[in-house]
Amino acid sequence: HAADAHRTDLMTITRHALNEQSKFPESRGDFTILLSHIVLGCKFVCTAVNKAGLAKLIGLAGETNVQGEEQKKLDVLSNEVFIKALVSSGRTCILVSEEDEEATFVAESSRGKYCVVFDPLDGSSNIDCGVSIGTIFGIYLVEDGVEPTLDDVLQPGKNMVAAGYCMYGSSCTLVLSTGGGVNGFTLDPSLGEFILTHPDIKIPKKGKIYSVNEGNAKNWDSPTAKYVEKCKYPEDGSAPKSLRYIGSMVADVHRTLLYGGIFLYPADKKSPNGKLRVLYEVFPMAFLMEQAGGQAFTGKERALDLIPTSIHERSPIFLGSYDDVEEIKALYAAEA
Ligand code: AHG
Ligand code: MN
Ligand code: MN
Repeated sequence: HAADAHRTDLMTITRHALNEQSKFPESRGDFTILLSHIVLGCKFVCTAVNKAGLAKLIGLAGETNVQGEEQKKLDVLSNEVFIKALVSSGRTCILVSEEDEEATFVAESSRGKYCVVFDPLDGSSNIDCGVSIGTIFGIYLVEDGVEPTLDDVLQPGKNMVAAGYCMYGSSCTLVLSTGGGVNGFTLDPSLGEFILTHPDIKIPKKGKIYSVNEGNAKNWDSPTAKYVEKCKYPEDGSAPKSLRYIGSMVADVHRTLLYGGIFLYPADKKSPNGKLRVLYEVFPMAFLMEQAGGQAFTGKERALDLIPTSIHERSPIFLGSYDDVEEIKALYAAEA
């Protein structure tokens, strides 16, 4: 039977978005159009990442390629592609990128009602050795007919209307939530389409893996230190957790989402606010985790309740399986 060996019902990400849209008769398809421009950016970065090693070889002499153009670093290139794709969608008004100090306000002529916050290339230290990297994005909606201001993006994560990431790994996977669960799509390179391969992702209630940069251990606060100690020497007689840490948030979170467990980027004495950025790293991942039945905690509060005061603000983050995050919350509560 042909259908057994081949996927014949190809639920592309666009078809999926159109299906979702049809549930809202008043919708004019703006989100679907915005999404297709994000998807275009992801496909471009995927291709660029795949060719990165080769492109570098070609560009070795004086950092110029065969056409005599200067080679752009992958994160700068990715940023340019996303900014241009998002502006040209005609559906955005404010863009916040990890790569740009200031937010981009879209000119009135091509303005829409969505704000997009994003990290065009996350995990850049892993580019040169071919390890998985990704793009992270979150989307806010502004009120109709009001002049957009920075306050429209300095909103708690729970106000996002959608969030997702694309992982450039052994395959290219886009994980998306528009607030009604989480779906995963895999790029079929021969079709150039993202196909629904992971419908309605739910994170296991408890996991067997913890993920953290343990090299920072000497600077941790006591709840984090106690938690990691418990992962290795459980007090209840259960098996110790395994440690997995890639150093690309997208890859570490993707594994956590599918296999369960916990991902931590805690505060430490050197970085009291941790390392990861609230708007385009912490919020989108926290949004996806909650939508998949997990939790995300900052050490003080539910991550999605945090109100950012500046666009590149950082926060500690603990996210993953419901029960595992519950344990770290209890340790922080005990010392509050
Ligand atoms: P970016 O490459 O966008 O600057 O972010 C890298 C981040 C994130 O992907 C990862 O979780 C974290 O940095 C790893 O940090 P450490 O090297 O301190 O562990
Ligand atoms: Mn990043
Ligand atoms: Mn980045």
